[in-house]
Amino acid sequence: MENITAVILAAGEGTRMKTKLPKVLHKVGSMTMLGKVISNLKEAGVADIVVVVGYKAEQVEELFKGQVRFVRQTELLGSGDALIRAMGSLGETSGKVLVTCGDAPLIPSETYRKMTREKEGVSCVVLTCEVPDPSAYGRIVRDAGGNVRNIAEEKDATREEKEIREINVGTYCFLRGDLERFLKEIKMNEKKREFYLTDIIGILTANGKKVASESCGIEEMIGINSRKDLALASGIVNRKKLEELMVSGVTIVDPDTTRVDETASVGRDTVVFPFTVIEGDVMVGEGCKIGPFAHLRSGTTLADDVEIGNFVEVCRTEIGSGTRVKHHAYLGDAVIGKCVNIGAGAVTANYDGRKKNSTVIGDNASIGAGAVLVAPVKVGRGATVGAGSVVTKMKDVADGETVVGIPARSIYKSDT
Ligand code: UD1
Ligand code: CA
Repeated sequence: MENITAVILAAGEGTRMKTKLPKVLHKVGSMTMLGKVISNLKEAGVADIVVVVGYKAEQVEELFKGQVRFVRQTELLGSGDALIRAMGSLGETSGKVLVTCGDAPLIPSETYRKMTREKEGVSCVVLTCEVPDPSAYGRIVRDAGGNVRNIAEEKDATREEKEIREINVGTYCFLRGDLERFLKEIKMNEKKREFYLTDIIGILTANGKKVASESCGIEEMIGINSRKDLALASGIVNRKKLEELMVSGVTIVDPDTTRVDETASVGRDTVVFPFTVIEGDVMVGEGCKIGPFAHLRSGTTLADDVEIGNFVEVCRTEIGSGTRVKHHAYLGDAVIGKCVNIGAGAVTANYDGRKKNSTVIGDNASIGAGAVLVAPVKVGRGATVGAGSVVTKMKDVADGETVVGIPARSIYKSDT
């Protein structure tokens, strides 16, 4: 879509979040709000993206530099003023301007695509949604013929307008020419001392321009203003992911207490037990059992038929098929073979205070309960580490060897 520039309004301070972090850098699942908006726009085919930044602008720019263009809004004078700041930076060939908010991360690419479709004689398309509780949003006011006439913000709405349940999602697709002509006609709202972008809808229709609408689902429209909204949005994203996994053949025993990031994958016939968290780019194979109370962190890959049990944390670790880690263990920066048994409470001591070190455990090895493997260290194939022993760094255990004690000393070595 070469003739479109998207403008993401993201300069606001996010006062209602009560936060030091710019609001749009808060995460929904594994991605920042702004990151999700950018990625959904790109998926919709919008390549030219301008982000309006203001509050802690450097921090936002730093995170997304190279991916989008930025303009700064130095004084936070409202969404209308924010868009005015972006007008000088529209792509040269852009005939349309798709405006969206950095705090609405759940609007999917299909909806953006729908918004930008050609519509004869329409100056602006506004995205709307019917909601049971419209109180935090601008209301879509229509004329007797059902055409969009203007948007009434909560603070300025009449009693009748407050009854309207069709709300403004905050996403609009404008014809550039009309936007350039009428944007400057927005007047400061005296109550809030802000320029409301929403006023442009009434200005367009008063000048004989046609405003059309597209609608989206209630799970897509949420604009995140508070921590409560943030949790709600994370819940929606999580529920969607779990539903996708269930459709693809994964058992989620208790969706209410299970978190799986959008970016993670889980194979068929794997069972995820309650209170499990699977983060980032984790890949779980088929036929695994995960949890209850398991925490799989980024960089972790499990082959098929792996069992990860109660209170086990796994981070940046690769685990071979048939391996069992059933209780209270920590595995970090490790490569673990097939059919290994990791006893209750065994841990890899991967951090020496300066850097992370790796642990390698061969196929069929057995790590006793409460053992500590101080990395970097290798435990060979078929080796046994006795319960409670401490294998110190670089004191590798050979294939087939059995070690015990603190520090672990050899008590047996097979011929293999
Ligand atoms: C806005 C809409 C409201 C809509 C709702 C949807 C206005 C006046 N109202 O209300 O009709 O239902 O979004 O979520 O637009 N921003 C700036 N600079 C500013 C102020 C805001 O860039 O000076 C950005 C914010 O970062 C945010 C967006 O504009 O991404 C909307 O601002 P916000 O204060 O969240 O508006 P709402 O009250 O949610
Ligand atoms: Ca908002």
